[in-house]
Amino acid sequence: MTTVLFAAGAALWPEYETPLRAALAESGLAVDLVTDADPAAVDFIIYAPSSPVQDFTPYTRCKAVLNLWAGVERIVGNATLTQPLCRMVDPGLTEGMVEYVVGHVLRHHLGMDRYILGAPGWDQIVPPLARERPVGVLGLGELGLACARALAGLNFDVAGWSRSEKSGLGLPAYHGEAGLQALLRRSQIVVTLLPRTAETENLLDAQRLGWLPQGAVIINPGRGALIDDAALLAALDAGHLGHATLDVFRVEPLPDDHAFRHHPRITVTPHIAADTRASSAARVVVENIRRGMAGLPLLHVVDRARGY
Ligand SMILES: NC(=O)c1ccc[n+]([C@@H]2O[C@H](COP(=O)([O-])OP(=O)(O)OC[C@H]3O[C@@H](n4cnc5c(N)ncnc54)[C@H](OP(=O)(O)O)[C@@H]3O)[C@@H](O)[C@H]2O)c1
Repeated sequence: MTTVLFAAGAALWPEYETPLRAALAESGLAVDLVTDADPAAVDFIIYAPSSPVQDFTPYTRCKAVLNLWAGVERIVGNATLTQPLCRMVDPGLTEGMVEYVVGHVLRHHLGMDRYILGAPGWDQIVPPLARERPVGVLGLGELGLACARALAGLNFDVAGWSRSEKSGLGLPAYHGEAGLQALLRRSQIVVTLLPRTAETENLLDAQRLGWLPQGAVIINPGRGALIDDAALLAALDAGHLGHATLDVFRVEPLPDDHAFRHHPRITVTPHIAADTRASSAARVVVENIRRGMAGLPLLHVVDRARGY
């Protein structure tokens, strides 16, 4: 019997047990899904960063660690983890991220705050059309590309940026340092959907924030460390940036006394941009168990050298 250890923490078990059992039943796999087991008998580990399992050494039979989170920065550097690590690519999570990004882009594009928060007046400031609004998406992976395509579908003038060179996406795609500069210089709204790695830490520093046009808006549902906090505050205070909508932070929950909390040009959302949805994620996990059991290539395997 194949043993699958749900090690994503006791708090998530009630949410995941039924969808996982349903997906396993649907697949017809003979699997024992447990929350506790002799490590030497475990074939697959379902994981989340808050897991009590931090030392993978005793899991000698384990074929894969299946992360419920898309971001893997808290596990990818674990030296005891020698088994393949798969990250979460979940259609429900992607849908959620698209909705978050489109909603916040539209807020800034349409200048909604003026009417929702401002005194009722009669200043007829007509927003440009979406086709006249350049939006840049940093990261053209599962989430960034889905968001870029959704925004392009609304006629926004979207371009993206990624580590590797890309073509055939149906939108301008930049890469490399020169590409980053070109993308930032053209983007009135920037969405950051990059993973946290050694290379992306403080990617948006003072110099690069300076490349953005006057009044530009940043929407960061990627990771807090992508942006230099002090440089962001300085750019907002100087009026160079118009607003920042931030979902992720270096320290979470964001401390009450953090400068981001009460800044008039910062909107804080509490890491809710996109959650993994148990019903669709369970199917993704079970598909990887099926593949692992059949000796087929696993889906969404993390490249340890790249860090994502
Ligand atoms: N706020 C939330 O609720 C929430 C939820 C889920 C995920 N997230 C965050 O979103 C991130 C992205 O998720 P995803 O599923 O889209 O990841 P993904 O599919 O791995 O895509 C990552 C993208 O970032 C690019 N990239 C990585 N390192 C880069 C670098 N040094 N320079 C330029 N581009 C780089 C990759 O380029 P290549 O295409 O060339 O590889 C890829 O396009 C996650 O890592 C996580 O941090 C946040």
